[in-house]
Amino acid sequence: MKKILLIEALANSGPYVLDAAGALGAHVFVATHEDVYDSYPATLRDKIHGTVFTDLTDGDRALADLAGFAKATGIDAVACCWEFFTPLVAQLAHRLGLPGNDPRLARASRNKAEMAQAFAAGQVSAPRTVSVRTAGEAAPALDAVGIGFPVVVKPAEQGGSWGVSVVNSPEELDTAVRQAQSWPIAAPHGLPMDQRVVIQEYVPGPEFSLDTVVWRDEYAHLPVVEKHTTGGAYRAETGHTCPAALSPADLRSLRAATERALEALGIRNGVAHTELKLSPEAGPVVIEVGARLPGDHLVDVVRRASGIDEARAYLQAVLDEKPDVPAPRKGRARSDSSPRRVPAPSTG
Ligand SMILES: Nc1ncnc2c1ncn2[C@@H]1O[C@H](COP(=O)(O)OP(=O)(O)OP(=O)(O)O)[C@@H](O)[C@H]1O
Ligand SMILES: [Mg+2]
Repeated sequence: MKKILLIEALANSGPYVLDAAGALGAHVFVATHEDVYDSYPATLRDKIHGTVFTDLTDGDRALADLAGFAKATGIDAVACCWEFFTPLVAQLAHRLGLPGNDPRLARASRNKAEMAQAFAAGQVSAPRTVSVRTAGEAAPALDAVGIGFPVVVKPAEQGGSWGVSVVNSPEELDTAVRQAQSWPIAAPHGLPMDQRVVIQEYVPGPEFSLDTVVWRDEYAHLPVVEKHTTGGAYRAETGHTCPAALSPADLRSLRAATERALEALGIRNGVAHTELKLSPEAGPVVIEVGARLPGDHLVDVVRRASGIDEARAYLQAVLDEKPDVPAPRKGRARSDSSPRRVPAPSTG
């Protein structure tokens, strides 16, 4: 019986991971804080074999506590669902000698300022980006590197598009930067967030996400998902279509840009969720990568469309087993408020 240590299960993809572990016959031990565990629904608790409580806001202490627990319990693999814990997973896997991402680069998968630096170093096709600590620094920083408007302003650390806005003129910068700094901690653990703000070129074009299972330096790409959003200053997601209707050339170029981004971030085991735009002028541009499963129930959307269970493939990769990523079956799924399957188009 394999044993997996999952750092926090209270996340959109948590139930998918727990179900996949059950199907693989593995036991899952969840690392969380006692107060957070108190808020777990019974349906989640029922899928968990055991727990280890620690303070996940204190990285050194959590690493020491979880390494001790993993050794005593005979843990075979470390996983997570939440972007903010991906660096801790990389460090813990490294400490335990288990498969994982490069711990030296792992913060760049959580922090958009560090991600921009890693992308520049790795010559990844990504928007030019500056990072600032105060609203007053914003206009001079953009001038210094010659970035014009519109720009996108976002917190270095957050998710769910919180604090992200499209800014069309210098007069709007001040408010946008302050807004991006409005969430200094992330619930439910109270993790402190980097208060820097990243400002980057606005990339036009349709938006996609591409999930990739990484195992022993091999990339297995899942079907591309098109993301539909509202326009305007604050982009809200309105739905997803899987698989996206793409030409073979566009599919190849999205995959190539993704692979370059994963290399730049030292992602060498597990799963990655890459968000890209297909710019009419620049081609594929990587907006961000998370070293984790997607949110928004995209695990379900992809599974309904293709038959591929990426939570299962993720766990197989961290267990160092060959992931099951079969060729997708023909189909298409759309999600708006809730995912549903729609008939396959005649072209497949
Ligand atoms: N440089 C950019 N050019 C154009 N649009 C962008 C850019 N950066 C972000 N966006 C838009 O804003 C959305 C949210 O940005 P981003 O993904 O960086 O933040 P996030 O908080 O991680 O959001 P989420 O969790 O919703 O993915 C993107 O999905 C995209 O629609
Ligand atoms: Mg995003």
